[in-house]
Amino acid sequence: MEILHREGLARVGKFRTAHGWIETPTVMPVINPNLIVIEPQRMKQLGASAIITNAYIIRRSPDLNARATSHGVHSLIGFDGPVMTDSGTFQSHVYGSVEYGNLDMVEFQKSIGSDIGTIRDIFSEPTDSHEKAARAVRETFERVGEVEDTGGMILAGPIQGSVYPDLRARSARLMSGSRAGYLPVGGVVPLLESYRYRDLVSIIMASRLNSDPSKPLHLFGAGHPMFLAMSVLMGIDMFDSASYIKYARDSRFLFPDGTRDLAKMVEFPLWSPIYNRYSIQEFMKLDPESRVREIAWHNLTAIFMEIREIRERIMEQTLWQYVEGKSRSHPALFDAFRWICRHSASTMPFHEISRKSPFHFHDRMSMQQPVARRLLNHAGRIMKSSDEIWILHPDIFSGGDSQDPVLRQVYERTGAQIAFMWNSVPVPLELKDTYPVQQSISSGAASFRIPAAVHNYGNARIITRDELPEILKGEPIRDMDMNQVRAIADFQFDPGIGMRIFDGGSSVRVSRSTGRIRTVSQSGRILATLRPHDGFFTLSMDGARKLIAASGDRFMVTVTGDSAEYNSKGFNVFSKFIISHDPDILAGNETVVCGDDGKPVAVGRAMVSGREMGKYRAGVAVKVNHGSQEASDNGN
Ligand code: GUN
Repeated sequence: MEILHREGLARVGKFRTAHGWIETPTVMPVINPNLIVIEPQRMKQLGASAIITNAYIIRRSPDLNARATSHGVHSLIGFDGPVMTDSGTFQSHVYGSVEYGNLDMVEFQKSIGSDIGTIRDIFSEPTDSHEKAARAVRETFERVGEVEDTGGMILAGPIQGSVYPDLRARSARLMSGSRAGYLPVGGVVPLLESYRYRDLVSIIMASRLNSDPSKPLHLFGAGHPMFLAMSVLMGIDMFDSASYIKYARDSRFLFPDGTRDLAKMVEFPLWSPIYNRYSIQEFMKLDPESRVREIAWHNLTAIFMEIREIRERIMEQTLWQYVEGKSRSHPALFDAFRWICRHSASTMPFHEISRKSPFHFHDRMSMQQPVARRLLNHAGRIMKSSDEIWILHPDIFSGGDSQDPVLRQVYERTGAQIAFMWNSVPVPLELKDTYPVQQSISSGAASFRIPAAVHNYGNARIITRDELPEILKGEPIRDMDMNQVRAIADFQFDPGIGMRIFDGGSSVRVSRSTGRIRTVSQSGRILATLRPHDGFFTLSMDGARKLIAASGDRFMVTVTGDSAEYNSKGFNVFSKFIISHDPDILAGNETVVCGDDGKPVAVGRAMVSGREMGKYRAGVAVKVNHGSQEASDNGN
């Protein structure tokens, strides 16, 4: 997979099949080869780029079998784009055992020209014991091993493991290391049908966090638009949907956040393809076949409308906020969202250092977002290690006008750690111009919880407006700008790094018009420039050298000699040339590029997190800002 845009675990990407590229995230409509209600080729109008059908059904029917064997599955279905086939596992789950074996089904899928073919995995039930589910995981893995030659077909190796996160994790690791190039998360239909979204969160998280990110992750049987955004947020790339037709047969209409019965509807929504073509009464009088076809088309529209929204959200990096709002549409979804929040510590390494869009604070739950949790963890560590803490009353500052001169005057007249209340949580004042504080929009729903803030840190006291005149009588004893740049570097890289990169001889240049920090230099050479959009640093080559010396060779990737030569001239680093890297690099953070001799040759922004780096075979891993052989490199 190649990643084009990302937000945490969610990604917009693409991968190649024998019949063309599939852009993700997307949904493959399920086509029943016995009964094609909407021509698959027509579905392209809505954005369907791939479809899924069932090789077992094709194989069992002498007529379909003969046609597929002679002319291929694409001709049988009438679709010239990528076609995935399933193997009959789900049928054996519903109807009992099926007559064809694993290799038999894989060979058949190859012979009919499937782009993505599925092994005969073992479907574990949510009620299965741990022992039984573990056996199924092992057996499913062994079945992938039976396939020696995929003949150009991408092999789908389902992740099973029932409701047990440890088994899902094991299955994901086994499948990631196998010949399977495509990973569907299977055995989840019973959970979806019974709204057990919380279990789904645990399953998806365990699957995603333990699988190879270069292999597309599919959620088998989850085509309702209601659960798509949440699944994508957890890293699902692909879905299949039979719901568009199943619901249509029951006269049910899909909406982005739920389902409605035709009998209870008063109007069609404006976006529906049926809108303005019939009144509800006229629609009810249509013959059943036309009615099912029309509703199925409406349902596909709802699904692809939601997919488009999700893609747009990832591109603007507001998917988390979208899911946060959407989760309120159903209590089970809300519960699942809370469960996602509970996982935010394990997903934090995948989240960008900052986002393109402002941080939205609705209520306390918004603070569970990994970007906020990272700040709060850092703030907590600083506060715990401070001997004396002054917490500014929100009347003085709560994240509004960060250039108010009073802040500097107070700051410079004490040696205490100063914090302010940002959405009810104390945050070091030095981070007032850094994401997410700097770029945030608050509902104001946070109350100022003085007692809690002070209670948490025994050595803290609240500074009120009344105390300012007395404080301001003192003489300055420290420099805010220098402390601020060090504090930002500590947050951006690691505690203690700021002091080591920006040591005694450093000087800070501040914008005359805005009063904001612009650059930090040493001996007339720029080490770092503060990015106006998120308040973090970009480094010069000098700064990059200091960073790796100060951190003991962290925040760096090592690339092949050929790549190093190219990168030193300012060209980007491609994933496939990375030899080793720091796994803790955050996406969007400054990353130093070194040749295989360990010498820094470039510095730039990581396009993926350290957890994913080197795993993708295609795409840019570090967008280079400065190369050591560039004229603009400060003259080094
Ligand atoms: N369709 C829905 N669930 C599954 C599953 O677990 N395995 C396969 N192969 N197909 C499915």
